Amino acid sequence: MSSDNSDEKFVMDPDHGEIPDLRNSKGHGFYCFKHDGVYLYIVHPSVLKGVRPADHLRSIKEAELKDDDIFICAYPKCGTHWLWEVIEMLKSGTIKYQKDVKETRMLELISKDGIEAVPQPRVFNTHLHLRMLPKQVVEKKIKCFQIMRNPKDACVSFFNHCRDMTPPYDYEGDFVEFTEAFLSEKMAFGSYSTYLLSWKAEVAAAPELPVLDLFYEDMKFDPVKTVKDVARFLGLSSTDQFCEEVADACSFKKMKKVDQEMKGDAPIKIWADGKEGTFYRKGEIGDWKNWFTVAESERFDQIWNAKMKDSGFKFTYTPV
Ligand code: A3P
Repeated sequence: MSSDNSDEKFVMDPDHGEIPDLRNSKGHGFYCFKHDGVYLYIVHPSVLKGVRPADHLRSIKEAELKDDDIFICAYPKCGTHWLWEVIEMLKSGTIKYQKDVKETRMLELISKDGIEAVPQPRVFNTHLHLRMLPKQVVEKKIKCFQIMRNPKDACVSFFNHCRDMTPPYDYEGDFVEFTEAFLSEKMAFGSYSTYLLSWKAEVAAAPELPVLDLFYEDMKFDPVKTVKDVARFLGLSSTDQFCEEVADACSFKKMKKVDQEMKGDAPIKIWADGKEGTFYRKGEIGDWKNWFTVAESERFDQIWNAKMKDSGFKFTYTPV
């Protein structure tokens, strides 16, 4: 990984407001600032070519897009890496892994100039809400994907991610503490439920925006079908055989190996030295059962369902 952001806690410019205290009673929390109602990691200005985080987010709304750009939108840990590699292969028409990591196409980590400089065809990805994306996403009716995952597996995956991150982003609390944060808004990227409700409302307000909703679990159950659905949505005439080859090349095992052997650097040092940090941890449905007690799971359901009961989102929690 490239630049090292572990040197010292960099401080926000006062123009950008207070750094909120997102620590719990044990002192464990997230190094974020609040932008447009959502807590987002304070990305070191050196990553953003000297641009301050809030200015960066304001500037990317003005980014110039190409008509055939593609956006993958998702809450963290719902399968963005997987889908990104699938789309890149489908677009290129070859079974060739991207040497670049998907973080080089992540809005949160590249400046506006960087976004505009990405060579075509471009598959961007982001955890930002629709209202925070370049305005041209809606204006140009850019094709968007929303990949979702059951919130308990997303929570487990995000916990494992956060605890291995490099300081000051690392989460030092335990899984129970993390789950409490995950169910609140006091969390990097806010709560998953709010993310989904915002997404739904913002997409409804942009009815001409082409969006394909995908679920991590469907992709696990039948990767070939998902690859075909993706190709069709993109208007590609990929053959059945090619879609099967893409699904196979993007299996968890193969992508993990490729990640270890040939991927380039991310714009930011993500994993702390000495930690196992990886984007390819288990790749399963239902790992949450190894993390939640029955009581914790019931409490999670109660809070999640209370907020999401009329939302229409339905998730699969077991690998049947
Ligand atoms: P786990 O932590 O549960 O293993 P994201 O790409 O959005 O950061 O999501 C990462 C999650 O997707 C991780 O989940 C990772 O293992 C899983 N994943 C990545 N590539 C995958 C693939 N090809 N098949 C299945 N799961 C994959």
